[in-house]
Amino acid sequence: MWRPPERIRHDPQPGQWPTAEEAVRSKLFSPIRVGSTLLSSRTWVPAMVPWRASESGEVTPAVLDWYRRFAEGRPGVIVIEATGIADVASGPLLRISHDSHIEGLASIVHAVREASGGETRVLIQLIDFLTIRRRPEPARFFEQFLTITDEHRRHLDLLHADEGLVRARLRELPDEHLQRVLTACEFNDYSMGYRERVTDMQLSRIRDLPKRLPADFAAAARRARQAGFDGVELHYAHAYTMASFLSKTNDRGDGYGGSVTERLRLPREVFAAVRREVGSDYTVGCRFLADECIEGGSDQTDAAAFAVAFAADGFDFLSLSRGGKFDDARQPKIGEAAYPYTGRSGYECMPSYYSDEKGPFGRNRVAVHALREAVRAAGFETPIISGGGIYGFAQAEAWLDEGNADIVSIARQALADPDWFRKVRSGAGATVRVCLYTNYCEALDRRHREVTCELWDREGLSDPSVARSKDGKRRLVAPPTDPPI
Ligand SMILES: Cc1cc2nc3c(=O)[nH]c(=O)nc-3n(C[C@H](O)[C@H](O)[C@H](O)COP(=O)(O)O)c2cc1C
Ligand code: SF4
Repeated sequence: MWRPPERIRHDPQPGQWPTAEEAVRSKLFSPIRVGSTLLSSRTWVPAMVPWRASESGEVTPAVLDWYRRFAEGRPGVIVIEATGIADVASGPLLRISHDSHIEGLASIVHAVREASGGETRVLIQLIDFLTIRRRPEPARFFEQFLTITDEHRRHLDLLHADEGLVRARLRELPDEHLQRVLTACEFNDYSMGYRERVTDMQLSRIRDLPKRLPADFAAAARRARQAGFDGVELHYAHAYTMASFLSKTNDRGDGYGGSVTERLRLPREVFAAVRREVGSDYTVGCRFLADECIEGGSDQTDAAAFAVAFAADGFDFLSLSRGGKFDDARQPKIGEAAYPYTGRSGYECMPSYYSDEKGPFGRNRVAVHALREAVRAAGFETPIISGGGIYGFAQAEAWLDEGNADIVSIARQALADPDWFRKVRSGAGATVRVCLYTNYCEALDRRHREVTCELWDREGLSDPSVARSKDGKRRLVAPPTDPPI
């Protein structure tokens, strides 16, 4: 796990909470239109995967309980977790890859509407991702996975030797030597686990992504509309396929990589296909990175250019995140897969309370401010959603006043206390369970275990009616606020 060089502890300081009258007069709790969707407040719970779907990606009772609990807090929007548009095995991650998923997904919409009294709008994040495998046992890698080439033979001076001998000799080499004998890609497969990249043009399924993805995203968006979602968020952020097309590291030579215009081509084609499928009266936006935070990656200047292009195309909202890439992920243990939130870019995405001087709150401020200015300067009013480390009312209100966003996104704080929104609006901010930014939840996500918050997951465990994690040790949803608000 990457740690900032200086480890200074930063505790959240929410300061003064507003009275109910102050909250009602605030910008944060004022309505805003996003595409064809009217939000009652400028608050937004971004996508968070809780690992509660079935192994085949279906909605389970635990998924419904999870979103119902968030909806009870009545944020302006809840974005349902990254949901797979392709039918590939990915553990308990929701899928929208087939019409058979529509009914289950519709039950999430129903649960959110009911629990929020119809107030909270519900979007769904649509994701495509490439294959990633666990880091192999060295013996298996050399015996089964590595294709022996003349290059390996030449390095070992074993041009005409039996392949078994070449494999055995490679296996004996120390890593420093292997780094010279294997190609960068082979060494990466050996030391991190195999991972597909959008630049693997030798693979037909990767070459063909621009042919497949617009139709797949469009079909998924059509299903979302049929299920009753208020809109869709195309996942163009973090370590996944569409973000990799936008990345400055994308040097595909087929017109879909290289310059900013070429890197934007597929994301724009996907949007055009989605728009054609769902029509102009349906809310469609995307989430992407204000800065990839990796060496040689897209920075805030690229991101501003992406934002202006997306706004010109008619995206209804632009939601910004930061970092979260595989490129600088920590080496996983043997038998585990790389996790994109373990390197410096991962830290920038979900910073914890031990931080450098800048601290974990609002690290995307400079980039999102510049991006919003660029969109406005180009004459577009597209709502910008951003946040990162937002837990306090004054902090959220200042975020809007400073022009860093039109809507504030609040992820881990909403997980720590889903009632944040109702509490603050009703003048009961002092009762908020403030997130400590310990990243206990993120560590559970890393191991694909049911995500919970350490501030509440041991509460009331003696009550037999409380639903628990598979190991029986943690409650699965935040306890109700007592007394009710
Ligand atoms: C458990 C967990 C799961 C997450 N899953 C997603 C996801 O599915 N899609 C996404 O775009 N971001 C995901 N994120 C990132 C959050 O949406 C958010 O960008 C990040 O937590 C920083 O915001 P915060 O400081 O308000 O928590 C996840 C974060 C957490 C903690
Ligand atoms: S476990 Fe709870 S307190 Fe810790 S970062 Fe996650 S939401 Fe915040």
